[in-house]
Amino acid sequence: MNRLMNENIFPEEYFRRADESPDGNFYLAPRFVAHIDPETIEALTRFYREFVPLKADVLDLMSSWISHLPEDQALGRVAGLGMNQEELAGNPRLTEYLVHDLNHDPELPYTPGSFDRVLISVSIQYLVNPVQVLRSVRSIMRPAGQIAIAMSHRCFPTKAIAAFQALSSKERVELVSAFLFEAGFEEIRFVDQSPAMGDPLWILVGTAPSESNA
Ligand SMILES: C[S@@+](CC[C@H](N)C(=O)[O-])C[C@H]1O[C@@H](n2cnc3c(N)ncnc32)[C@H](O)[C@@H]1O
Repeated sequence: MNRLMNENIFPEEYFRRADESPDGNFYLAPRFVAHIDPETIEALTRFYREFVPLKADVLDLMSSWISHLPEDQALGRVAGLGMNQEELAGNPRLTEYLVHDLNHDPELPYTPGSFDRVLISVSIQYLVNPVQVLRSVRSIMRPAGQIAIAMSHRCFPTKAIAAFQALSSKERVELVSAFLFEAGFEEIRFVDQSPAMGDPLWILVGTAPSESNA
């Protein structure tokens, strides 16, 4: 596994995992479960209604059977990329899907300039090369497109990178903000959408360079 990108910028030990076996084994069986509370899902869906413009082409990265997008929001292409074929096939929001292990190959199999919005929901902690993946995300976005990385406090502990188990929530937000910065995103901002009851919801938004800055 190529960790060169991380080694240069962040401590190597941040990206170790208790279970270093290929991710395909862990995600072999589908999990038709919610990874955040219903109130938190509602808050994320509310956020997406504002964040995703009508008719936008959207990539739901590290997707499963649920994308949290508003059911009644008219969108263009909604591509899902994740690890379990059955989960992705059961996601009613997706217009297409791919099974692709980003820890094996961080390059995204889409043509440059394909998407207006990219979503990563409660999954960034599973990437061992997050900066490389986010650089690839940037390359397949349209100029001034935006990414939203939603985080909470639950995880599969054996598959989450060590940094997400050792750092405080504030430090994790700062770390993901640094991932976005290193990947070349601009106007990085933090939005706390945590509901009064339920799991917290911390979102980082980044903007791909506009045509003149790209
Ligand atoms: C906790 S689930 C979150 C699923 C969904 N995004 C949600 O909000 O409910 C973690 C997701 O990350 C995806 N994932 C984990 N490791 C991955 C990898 N190496 N490459 C691509 N996707 C991965 C899995 O397929 C799984 O759907």
